[in-house]
Amino acid sequence: MAAVMERQRIAVRPTGAALGADIEGIDLARGLSPDTVGAIKQAWSDHLVLRFRGQHLDDDQLMRFSACFGELDWAPVIAALRAKVPGQDRFVEPAEEGRRYISVISNIIENGRAVGALGAYESIWHTDMSYNPQPPSASALYALEVPPSGGDTGFANMYLAYETLPEALLGLIRGRLCRHDATHNSAGELRRGFTEVTDPRRTPGADHPIIRTHPVTGRKALFLGRRRNACIQGLELEESERLLDALWAHATRPELTWYQQWQVGDLVLWDNRCVLHRRDEFDPATRRLMHRSQIKGDRPF
Ligand code: SIN
Repeated sequence: MAAVMERQRIAVRPTGAALGADIEGIDLARGLSPDTVGAIKQAWSDHLVLRFRGQHLDDDQLMRFSACFGELDWAPVIAALRAKVPGQDRFVEPAEEGRRYISVISNIIENGRAVGALGAYESIWHTDMSYNPQPPSASALYALEVPPSGGDTGFANMYLAYETLPEALLGLIRGRLCRHDATHNSAGELRRGFTEVTDPRRTPGADHPIIRTHPVTGRKALFLGRRRNACIQGLELEESERLLDALWAHATRPELTWYQQWQVGDLVLWDNRCVLHRRDEFDPATRRLMHRSQIKGDRPF
């Protein structure tokens, strides 16, 4: 579908919390001019998480908007997924070698099958797909159906986590790598093709610097991924566990966070390079349906 490209004058309204801003005055279903994309990118660098309310997007429009921020990344291997083939009116199952760019995050069951992943459970603090050597730089989540309460998504500012870290902790992690576990999703489910791990030192995944430098802003951020089965390389397991507990407690303090309460038509874009996120559980008898895209990132340094 040809997109009408025009310059849209946007307003940026910060949440007033440690991160997050609303972008107003924009219709993401239209093609965005380079000036408009530039203004959104600046706001994104400044606020790390952007919310666009009142949008009406199909998957192609969601993918087109996401592609303004880089090349689209494949959806993660998750417990249940039904993905739309770009430009076509059909869905594929994960087993098919199709181009799986849209993940469905949902608790809805249709004809005895989950239409998406993560159910109605809590999803714990994490960074998307950081078990890959080149984790996605960003994720965009678009709300199609939301429950009357619950299912809020929390975000935490990892620049601030780094900048406020006590010197004693900083000294212990400078130059160190951490293993990011690939075996479980953020709702605690074992991912397809993996077996349970009892010793974090042997968990499959990727090793990344605990302090990473954002390739665009040049700022340093804590990069923790997810707590389960994490292991700091070169430390005894007990020492690694103690240090990780201290880092996680520091990085997820309420003053570093902001919570998104969803409305239908919200699109939220976050920067995985400097933001952690999590989700509250909600009543499984209610419906929540989200479509997510992710943008390819570089190897963290
Ligand atoms: C996620 O944890 O990636 C999903 C967030 C959400 O469903 O709000």
